[in-house]
Amino acid sequence: MTPSATYHFPAGFLWGTATAAHQVEGSNTTNNWSDWENQAGRIKNGDKAGLAADWWGGRWKEDFDRAADTGQNAHRMSVEWSRIQPTPDHWSEDVLDYYRQMVRGLVERGLTPMVTLHHFSEPLWLAEKGGWENPDTPGLFAAFTRKVVEALKEYVSYWVPVNEPNTYVTCAYLQGVFPPGKKDNAAAFTVLANLLRGHAAAYQVIHALQKEARVGSCTNYRSFQPKRPWLPLDRFITNFLAANYNDAFIRTLVKGRFNYLGKRVRISEAAKTQDFVGVNYYSRDLVAFNFSYADFFSQRSYPPGAQLSQTGFIANVPEGMYEAIDWARRFDLPILITENGVEDSEDRLRPRYLVEHLHQVWRTVNFNWPVKGYFHWTLVDNFEWERGWSQRFGLWGLDLATQKRIRRPSVDLYAAICKENGIASSAVEKYAPESLPVLFPE
Ligand code: FCB
Repeated sequence: MTPSATYHFPAGFLWGTATAAHQVEGSNTTNNWSDWENQAGRIKNGDKAGLAADWWGGRWKEDFDRAADTGQNAHRMSVEWSRIQPTPDHWSEDVLDYYRQMVRGLVERGLTPMVTLHHFSEPLWLAEKGGWENPDTPGLFAAFTRKVVEALKEYVSYWVPVNEPNTYVTCAYLQGVFPPGKKDNAAAFTVLANLLRGHAAAYQVIHALQKEARVGSCTNYRSFQPKRPWLPLDRFITNFLAANYNDAFIRTLVKGRFNYLGKRVRISEAAKTQDFVGVNYYSRDLVAFNFSYADFFSQRSYPPGAQLSQTGFIANVPEGMYEAIDWARRFDLPILITENGVEDSEDRLRPRYLVEHLHQVWRTVNFNWPVKGYFHWTLVDNFEWERGWSQRFGLWGLDLATQKRIRRPSVDLYAAICKENGIASSAVEKYAPESLPVLFPE
């Protein structure tokens, strides 16, 4: 007989989804990404963000309704710097006002807003000055932060200055798949150091303007494991990746000592500049030593036998979520899962991925580890960067041609969890029956 039980979460747990401006707004034409999309060969199938989910045209209203109607009580979104500061000497009050309407719209619907200030995209004018390689950029970012916080602070107290600095620097300055498309270790070092300076400056600006602010980092945590644990070279290269990819940025927020790709510098102002740890967890990599210098002598693969997502981008490894939270715990601060999800237009793997990852989150709150909320990536299908529209991460699907939303079964699964503030065996049985023996063994 199937046991009937519910894994409850603590009262006040935040349940939401996460989005990013360039991925959902549409009609962004003056940032580095729109420029990148116009260059041949940069985006899969030549896709462009285009209208995206048309939030700039007002469809955020119906999507926020969807979130609220399905039991969510929080939402993480980002603001687009290139709209707010279209030229170096001009701030758009209209745009700030529009974002104010959006965050007020969240609060009016009972959704606690979290705002990310930099989520991969930046103004083209900034990119043309060298972006985050330019030592002036942290100061410009602080000025931008001031404008946003002044405009939105009535409604927002959770802030993330920079989304996934580790993904940004890796994709844009090591792998060359994000703009500006560089493969340059020295530039990567400079950029990550300046992102730390920008984060630190934003932290001070936010706290000076808002006493109750909670400002967090947001790391894309990969669960790296040696492919052949008995082989010292595999262990060495795994530790190298973990130290540089997962740890380098956030560790600097503890004592101000930045150590990345074999170089170090002191960034004292970055010490003690986070109030919570944001964890984005998607998957695990097995790491093997490789004689080629590419990818720092490493070759990554997914655990044999793991279920893979539709395009093979993500392996379903829920234990990695537990590991990610255990890692985040070392900073001794509240933890928020700021992203987790899977690309799946047919919603075959998503229900299972969702409940199995949330089960791991539940295990950790059950030990009183301080996890305060979970934001699923994402609410509605959106533009997935260099992978374009080939990946569909939404609880709701999106028909780009008509802007019609498609309600995937995971909508109702996630709604059942949010409304219950827990994972009920009945919901798992109904929406993810394959996971029943995993979560509720007989
Ligand atoms: C994360 C990004 C987010 C989205 C998901 C799938 O790394 O922060 O914008 O692309 O991956």
